[in-house]
Amino acid sequence: MRKVLSSGAEATIYIDGANKSQTVDKERSKKNYRHNSIDETLRKARTRKESKILHSLEKYGFVPKILKQDEYNIIMEYVDGVQLKKAIDKDPKLALLVGKNLTIMHDNNIIHGDLTTSNMLLTKKGKIQKLYFIDFGLSYTSTRVEDMAVDIHLFKQALESKHYKIASKAYIQFIKGYNPKNKKEILERLEIVEQRGRYKEKT
Ligand SMILES: Nc1ncnc2c1ncn2[C@@H]1O[C@H](COP(=O)(O)OP(=O)(O)OP(=O)(O)O)[C@@H](O)[C@H]1O
Ligand SMILES: [Mg+2]
Repeated sequence: MRKVLSSGAEATIYIDGANKSQTVDKERSKKNYRHNSIDETLRKARTRKESKILHSLEKYGFVPKILKQDEYNIIMEYVDGVQLKKAIDKDPKLALLVGKNLTIMHDNNIIHGDLTTSNMLLTKKGKIQKLYFIDFGLSYTSTRVEDMAVDIHLFKQALESKHYKIASKAYIQFIKGYNPKNKKEILERLEIVEQRGRYKEKT
């Protein structure tokens, strides 16, 4: 049985199968506002990029495993959880897990590019909670401290706009969990990134 789980800006997410054997099919759908050949190139490139990054992170266990891939589709493991945005307001400490996952990504020179609480899924088995990252369509590899700082900046902005009541509590937890090799440099750069943001807001 096939069900549409979500139909977002870039992709439609289908769930196939039942119970324990469910799989997810992320299909990058045609966008009519884009010129045909540009649209195809973009959809293929994003699909390739996403599957490449999912593959390289698979061994760490916090991304869904890829089962099959196609030009416009990625078939992956179904993560039976809730979006972090539905859980973090009640439990800001969960941001610690975001920091831990992002440490592994940045230590591997992988930038997420779209770190929001909708792109994270929280699972619970017994008492054990686990956080998955998903949606790597805007991800890329980079060794630049600047790119890592911008990644954090986006997450911080997501907290401040969607979870403003607990944003600072959550951010403290995030920083506790975030311990990449060059943490100090990245956080120093984050201050510069944020100053730039404030300047832009005023002009
Ligand atoms: N492997 C998965 N297991 C369970 N749910 C998933 C999985 N992949 C995606 N989803 C669900 O589908 C939603 C959208 O997926 P994703 O973020 O990858 O696509 P998107 O095109 O960015 O969509 P949007 O524009 O809505 O963010 C996720 O927020 C999540 O709820
Ligand atoms: Mg998404």
